[in-house]
Amino acid sequence: MRNLVQLLPLVLPILSFFILTPLIHAKSVIEPCSSSDSCTSLLSYILPWDSKISEIASRFQVNISNILAANSFNPEIPSLGNQILRANSHVKVPISCPCVDGIRRSMSTTYRVQEADTAESVSHGYGGIVSAEQITIVNGINASNPLLNRQSLVIPLPCTCFNNSNHGVTTVYMSYVVQSGENLSSIGLEFGTTVMDLEAINGLGQPVIDQGDILAIPISACSSKNLIWYNESLIVPSGSYALTANNCIKCNCGTSDLNLQCFPSGIAVPCSHLQCKGSNLFIGDAYVNQTAAGCNVSTCMYRGHSGGKIFRSLSSSSYVQCPGKQNYSAASPLGSPSSPNPLIPFKTVTPSPSPFPGSTRTMGTASFGPTSKQYSNMSNNGGVLGKASCCNLLLLALVLYYFL
Ligand SMILES: *[C@@H]1O[C@H](CO)[C@@H](O)[C@H](O)[C@H]1NC(C)=O
Ligand SMILES: *[C@@H]1O[C@H](CO)[C@@H](O)[C@H](O)[C@H]1NC(C)=O
Ligand SMILES: *[C@@H]1O[C@H](CO)[C@@H](O)[C@H](O)[C@H]1NC(C)=O
Ligand SMILES: *[C@@H]1O[C@H](CO)[C@@H](O)[C@H](O)[C@H]1NC(C)=O
Ligand SMILES: *[C@@H]1O[C@H](CO)[C@@H](O)[C@H](O)[C@H]1NC(C)=O
Ligand SMILES: *[C@@H]1O[C@H](CO)[C@@H](O)[C@H](O)[C@H]1NC(C)=O
Ligand SMILES: *[C@@H]1O[C@H](CO)[C@@H](O)[C@H](O)[C@H]1NC(C)=O
Ligand SMILES: *[C@@H]1O[C@H](CO)[C@@H](O)[C@H](O)[C@H]1NC(C)=O
Ligand SMILES: *[C@@H]1O[C@H](CO)[C@@H](O)[C@H](O)[C@H]1NC(C)=O
Repeated sequence: MRNLVQLLPLVLPILSFFILTPLIHAKSVIEPCSSSDSCTSLLSYILPWDSKISEIASRFQVNISNILAANSFNPEIPSLGNQILRANSHVKVPISCPCVDGIRRSMSTTYRVQEADTAESVSHGYGGIVSAEQITIVNGINASNPLLNRQSLVIPLPCTCFNNSNHGVTTVYMSYVVQSGENLSSIGLEFGTTVMDLEAINGLGQPVIDQGDILAIPISACSSKNLIWYNESLIVPSGSYALTANNCIKCNCGTSDLNLQCFPSGIAVPCSHLQCKGSNLFIGDAYVNQTAAGCNVSTCMYRGHSGGKIFRSLSSSSYVQCPGKQNYSAASPLGSPSSPNPLIPFKTVTPSPSPFPGSTRTMGTASFGPTSKQYSNMSNNGGVLGKASCCNLLLLALVLYYFL
C-alpha cells in the first residue's frame, strides 16, 4: 500500500485521463447554413415553474396563437393565455430560425436581467434549452464583464431545420433537453422515432447521451406540397394545427396520417369565399353520392389564399365502398352495385377542436408523431462502445497492476 501512495502522483494523471476524457460539454446539434432563408423549428420547453401561456409567449417572444397552434390548444377560447400550466409540463414553442453567421440559430429572443440572476438561473428559466455557457459566450460575459441588473441578454435558442425533410418525409425538427434517466431508446419511443435516426441527426458517434444535452428530434409533418394550392405553402407538424388565410382557415395535421385537413376556423370575422361554387358545401365539407358502382364523394377543398381571397374547389373521387362504411379503398375497379341512394350529406373532415383539458398538467405532454414505429437495434454503435469501454477498463487494470 505504501507503494501505491508513493506512486499516486504518477498514477493520478493516468487515472484522470481515463475517467475524465468522456466528460465534455453538453452536446447540441449545429446546423450549418449559407442562405438567408428562414424556417420554423420547435422547442420542447419543460416548464421550470407554473406559468401562464401568455408568460411563456413573452418569455420566448413568440405570438401566443402560435403556441396554442403548436400544442393543438383550442384557439377559440379567448382567455386561454391566462391558463396556468403546471411546472414540468411540456410545451412546444415554435420559433423562427434564420441563418446567423453560418449557423442556424435564433437570436431574436432577449431577456432582461433581474437582481440575483446568474447565467445558470437564466438558463434554468428557459428549461435548459439554452445552456449557461452559450448565454455567457454569446453575450461576452466574463469576470471583468459580469451580468448587470436590467441588462438585456440575447438568448441564442437552438434551431434545426435540415430542409424540413427526413428520409423524404416532411419533417419539423424539435430541440429537446435530455432529462435525468432518459436514453435514446426512451426518447425514441416517446417521440415516435428511432435510435438510429436520433444518432444520425445529432451526429452522435455513440448511442450515449447525458442529462442536459440538447437533441434535435424529427417530428413528421403535413405539407401542402401535393395539394395544388395557389400562392401558399404550409408545413404543419403532426399533432398541431395552423391558422391561415387571415385566421379564417384552420388546417389540422393529425397523428395517425399526414393529410392536412383544412376547414373554416370559426374564430375570425369577416371571412368570405368559404363555400364552393355550384354547391352548398363549405371548405372541408363533403357529400357522398351513392352510385350504382359505389360511392362518389365530392369535397370542397381549400386551395390556398392570396390578396385577401380564399381559393377553393370541388373535388370528386369514386370509391368502391362508401365512407359511411369506413372504407375508402381505391377507386378504379368498381365493385358490386349497391342500392342507389339520393344525396347523403356527409361531413368528412371536420374534426372537433381538441378539447381543452380541465387539468392543465396533461395539456402539454407530447402526443404527436406516430408511436407505432419500432426503435432500432443499436448493435452497430453499441458494439464500438462496448469495445472501447472494455479496453479502457482493461488498460486501467493493467496500469494499476503494474504500479501495485
Ligand atoms: C399573433 O398572430 C395572430 C394570428 O396570426 C395575429 O392575428 C395577431 O395579430 C398576432 N399578434 C401579435 C402580437 O403579433
Ligand atoms: C471580457 O469580455 C470583454 C467583452 O466581452 C472583453 O473585452 C474582455 O477582454 C474579456 N475579459 C477577459 C478577462 O476575458
Ligand atoms: C436542402 O435543399 C437544397 C435545395 O433543394 C439542397 O441544395 C441542399 O443540399 C439540401 N440540404 C440538405 C441537408 O438536404
Ligand atoms: C432506457 O430507459 C428506459 C426507461 O428509463 C429503460 O427501461 C431502458 O432499460 C433504458 N435502456 C437502455 C439501453 O439503457
Ligand atoms: C402571391 O401573390 C401575390 C400577388 O397576388 C404575390 O405578390 C406574391 O409574390 C405571391 N406569393 C407566392 C409565394 O407566390
Ligand atoms: C349523384 O349521382 C347520380 C348518378 O350517378 C347523378 O345523376 C347525380 O348528378 C349525382 N349528384 C351529384 C351531386 O354529383
Ligand atoms: C362523381 O361526381 C362528379 C361530379 O358530380 C362527376 O363528374 C363524376 O362523373 C362522378 N363519378 C362517378 C363515377 O359517378
Ligand atoms: C375495404 O374494402 C376492401 C374491398 O372491398 C376489403 O377487402 C377491406 O377489408 C375493407 N376494409 C375495411 C376496413 O373494411
Ligand atoms: C439486435 O440485433 C441482433 C442481431 O441482428 C439481435 O440478436 C438482437 O436481439 C437485437 N436486439 C434488439 C434489442 O433488438
